[in-house]
Amino acid sequence: MVVIVKTNKEYLVTDIDADFYTPAGLVKSEWLQCPSQYNFEHGGTVQIYPARTQDILRHTKRGPQVVQAKDTGYIIARTGLTPQSIVVDAGCGGAHQTLVLSSLVQHVYAYEINQKHYEICKENVCGVGNVTLTFGSVEQHCVTGVDLFSLDLPEPWLFFDLCQQNLVQGGYMVVYLPNTVQLQKTLCAMPVSSFELEHVCELLERPWKHEASILRPQTTMVAHSGFLAFMRKR
Ligand SMILES: C[S@@+](CC[C@H](N)C(=O)[O-])C[C@H]1O[C@@H](n2cnc3c(N)ncnc32)[C@H](O)[C@@H]1O
Repeated sequence: MVVIVKTNKEYLVTDIDADFYTPAGLVKSEWLQCPSQYNFEHGGTVQIYPARTQDILRHTKRGPQVVQAKDTGYIIARTGLTPQSIVVDAGCGGAHQTLVLSSLVQHVYAYEINQKHYEICKENVCGVGNVTLTFGSVEQHCVTGVDLFSLDLPEPWLFFDLCQQNLVQGGYMVVYLPNTVQLQKTLCAMPVSSFELEHVCELLERPWKHEASILRPQTTMVAHSGFLAFMRKR
C-alpha cells in the first residue's frame, strides 16, 4: 500500500513498514498501515489516506504539458470506457493521462517519441502491470481491438488509417489539440466514410477560493488548455 500523509505539508509514503519522520512529528508505521487521523505526541494531527491515482500524480515527475483532469475525465465518460477497454495513449509525455486511464481500463498501450519524455514515462509507469510503454511513434501500433485512441500529439491527421485499422466498431479516436489550426486540419482530413465526427468542445474549469469568510471564484484561471474532438469509427 502507498499512502498520503498530510500535516501542513503532503507526503507520498511508499514504505509503510518503517516510521516516517515529518517536521510536525513522527508518523508511526502502525499508523501508515491503518490509514486514519492520528494525534502526534506533542500536539497536532496527521491525516493518512490510502493513495489514489490523483494523489500519486501530484508526486510523480512532470514531463511536458499534461492533459488536465477535466479533459481526461470527460474523455473517459464520453467514450464509455470500462474495465474491459483497450486504450492507446500517444504521446504519453509524462504519462499522466496514461496512469489515470490504466487505473480504469484493462490495458493501455502508450507511445512516446521523445527520449527525455520517454524516460520520465518509464519512471512514472514503473510497476504498473497493465501499461505497455513503447519508445517510438504510435504509428507502429499493431494490436487490434482498441476501444480508444487518445492522441495528444501535434499531427493527429497522420493517424486516421492506423486508428481505422485497429479500432473496434464504434470505438473512438479522440484528439486533444491546443490550437484551432490543428483542429481544423484534423477535421478536414477525417475520412467521413470511416469516421463520424460526434463532438467537438473545449472545457473551462473555474476554480473557487474557499476559506472561512471567502467563497468566490479565484481571481485567475487556466483560460485555455486544449480542444477535444471525438471521432467514432463507423
Ligand atoms: C503534450 S505531450 C503529452 C502529455 C500527456 N498526454 C500527459 O497527459 O502527460 C505530447 C507528446 O507527444 C509526443 N509525440 C509527438 N508525436 C508523437 C508520435 N507520433 N508518437 C508518439 N508520441 C508523439 C511528444 O514527444 C510529446 O511528449
